[in-house]
Amino acid sequence: AAVFLAAVGGLFAWQWTGAEVSTVGQVRFSKELKVPPLAPSTVEKDGTRVFSLRMQAGTTEFEKGVRTPTWGFNGSYLGPTLRAKRGEKVRVKVENTLPEASSVHWHGMHLPAKMDGGPHQEVAPGRTWTPYWKIDQPAATLWYHPHPHGKTETHVQRGLAGMFLVDDDRSASLKLPKRYGVDDLPVAVQDVEFDGANLDHGRRSFLQNTGFLGSRTMVNGTLDPYKEVGDELVRLRLLNASTARIYDFGFGDDRAFALVATDGGLLERPETLKRVQLSPGERAEVVVRMRAGEKVVLRSFPQSNYGGGFEQRFAGGDDSFDVLELRAAPTLRKAPELPSVMGDLEVPQEKDAVRGRYFGLRMSGINGRKMDMRHIDETVTRGTAEVWTVRNEDGVPHNFHVHDVQFRVLSVDGKAPTGMLRGAKDTVFVPGGSTVKLAMRFDGPADPDTPYMYHCHLLYHEDRGMMGQFVVVEKGQRAGTVAGGAHAG
Ligand code: C2O
Ligand code: CU
Ligand code: CU
Repeated sequence: AAVFLAAVGGLFAWQWTGAEVSTVGQVRFSKELKVPPLAPSTVEKDGTRVFSLRMQAGTTEFEKGVRTPTWGFNGSYLGPTLRAKRGEKVRVKVENTLPEASSVHWHGMHLPAKMDGGPHQEVAPGRTWTPYWKIDQPAATLWYHPHPHGKTETHVQRGLAGMFLVDDDRSASLKLPKRYGVDDLPVAVQDVEFDGANLDHGRRSFLQNTGFLGSRTMVNGTLDPYKEVGDELVRLRLLNASTARIYDFGFGDDRAFALVATDGGLLERPETLKRVQLSPGERAEVVVRMRAGEKVVLRSFPQSNYGGGFEQRFAGGDDSFDVLELRAAPTLRKAPELPSVMGDLEVPQEKDAVRGRYFGLRMSGINGRKMDMRHIDETVTRGTAEVWTVRNEDGVPHNFHVHDVQFRVLSVDGKAPTGMLRGAKDTVFVPGGSTVKLAMRFDGPADPDTPYMYHCHLLYHEDRGMMGQFVVVEKGQRAGTVAGGAHAG
């Protein structure tokens, strides 16, 4: 069946990708990269850091003089970068001025289920939701985005997304590039399609069912972006903020770079790589060495490991993109060598796990079930670690994201993980036919009535029901009853 489908897919590939989708060599890099501002905050007497996010509609000039209707946080497209330190208490006033309900989920954040911003914490139009929690996890590049059930793809496509950077003493003391917007750059990559002045979200790969695939890319909402840099070492915090597209990032001249962090934070030591593949929702921090006066292009290369005979249809022959041009100044500030050791990962080992679970991924649901907001799929015990085995059963590209935790990838198809998969992760690509084993610990507060989500982060799949719910309970406690409706307040 896979061979037959692949053949049919080949025949019809042009219907959804065009003959080829590649912007390599085509981009003129004419616009300066926008760097999202750091969100202002106030600190209360008890040390709580308070941020405000306002979800709003507006118009954005992606091209000069062309006004595109979009949504954003505290602006017309995307949102500011929130930043806080481990140990700090934070509170965020989330105000929804949109004409419909939405939510704000803190992707990668370890926090109580009621603060998670998933489909059970929708914020009605005109209402404000004020989650608060204590940052209790290592330094990492996290992000935030809406999560209203069935509408996440649309809300993210309209522009609702931003980064949340966590710092800690270790990240502060290590010799890594860390001047935000100077040698430490947020790089949120999205694929887009325009229909005149409007964003066109209708471009779907109907045969392969991955969801929207655009033919151009933007970084931080900037089309054709370039960035002038003045340092020998530049850190890129890559975020795949696309709804379905998978990228395989590297540099145009194939130079090696150092991978220093993944979803959940710093690796044990920098790893020299030439490519890092990110599916939707995943992050990677890379440090690239620049030579004075040169231009280097961040590129997404054609990919071959979708698995299951689907690569032609997903790739459309060549899905390569020139994403961002870095322009080095004629003289560069010297940078110290990267540290050779960065510390330990705070994710469990296989031997720590007290039980295992299986998750079979299909378009039609996870373990044969579609998301039901009133149904708790899994109940886990607070303070325990588990091994979750996740298999792609239908060959369509999927990934797997778990709320609240970071996990260790124990194996991919029985083999030890390499490259990016050696770091702490909250989202992992699961190509057709492959199986990943993940170890994670649940040590948030027990709340039998409020679930966290696990799901495919290809947002079209998530919205169609490739999502399930788990609650964290005290030992021996049962899951509670979950209300299905939206609430705010
Ligand atoms: Cu980034 Cu459940 O999401
Ligand atoms: Cu999440
Ligand atoms: Cu999927």
